[in-house]
Amino acid sequence: MPGPAETFLVLGGTAEANRLVAALGAARPAARIILSLAGRTTTPVLPAGCEIRVGGFGGSDGLAAHLSREGVTWLLDATHPFAARISRNAARAAHDAGTRRLALVRPPWIADAGDRWTSVACLAGARDALPANARPFLALGRQHLAPFAARPDLKPVVRMIEEPEPPLPFAAEIVLARPSADVAEEAGLLARLAVTHLVCRNSGGSASFAKIAAARKLGLPVIMIDRPPEPPPPVVRSVAEIIAAIAP
Ligand SMILES: NC(=O)c1ccc[n+]([C@@H]2O[C@H](COP(=O)([O-])OP(=O)(O)OC[C@H]3O[C@@H](n4cnc5c(N)ncnc54)[C@H](OP(=O)(O)O)[C@@H]3O)[C@@H](O)[C@H]2O)c1
Repeated sequence: MPGPAETFLVLGGTAEANRLVAALGAARPAARIILSLAGRTTTPVLPAGCEIRVGGFGGSDGLAAHLSREGVTWLLDATHPFAARISRNAARAAHDAGTRRLALVRPPWIADAGDRWTSVACLAGARDALPANARPFLALGRQHLAPFAARPDLKPVVRMIEEPEPPLPFAAEIVLARPSADVAEEAGLLARLAVTHLVCRNSGGSASFAKIAAARKLGLPVIMIDRPPEPPPPVVRSVAEIIAAIAP
């Protein structure tokens, strides 16, 4: 029996990748679709209608070998804008294996007139941009908090889904909650905690925008950590653009 005419390998770990898988399934019902996850999350939200593979490929060479072995016709990189290494590897591997590639990069958030943003390049830059004795809301994953231990003058607030184990590397007020999509709720939280600055990464997208809108509403300064460089072209901004670009 002949195999599928097309095989899409979607590099995921994001909501966009899941939406892309669904859109691919609708646009190309005969294609084989493989969703690849790094395996960082134990219970990821998974889309239907695709094969799932989990774990690293072993660098760009490993990924290139995978593309050839699986007969991948399109490599679609829908990873997070801060996941720079896998995107770099994807570009190199696609080049080496002669596989067509597209990167889906969601647009970054842009400051509005009146927003009080300070853009910094990295976590250490964010830490150093905070004034003495500030009370920052660190809207960052646990793995990004260590640099703030070098600022014992700060009185940080950290939101986590569960009590950190091991404990955080510095004293902080911990709010046990998930981020809310409700701007008023986020603004209420920031005001109640007497937060002086919001620190976050410019992930873009709507899912975690409420905190930025809340800072805007309260006139709070935001320390915005810029993204790493984008993957090499071709880069598109939406699932719809990918579906249009891969039209036969
Ligand atoms: N960075 C973030 O803030 C963030 C936020 C939300 C979701 N995510 C998702 O979490 C994953 C890991 O992010 P990261 O920042 O650790 O990435 P990274 O630093 O760019 O990648 C580190 C290594 O993890 C493996 N890897 C990453 N994404 C993979 C995927 N989709 N499938 C198979 N292997 C993958 C690769 O290992 P090998 O070299 O062995 O192939 C890669 O070299 C990504 O899929 C990303 O979309 C990241």
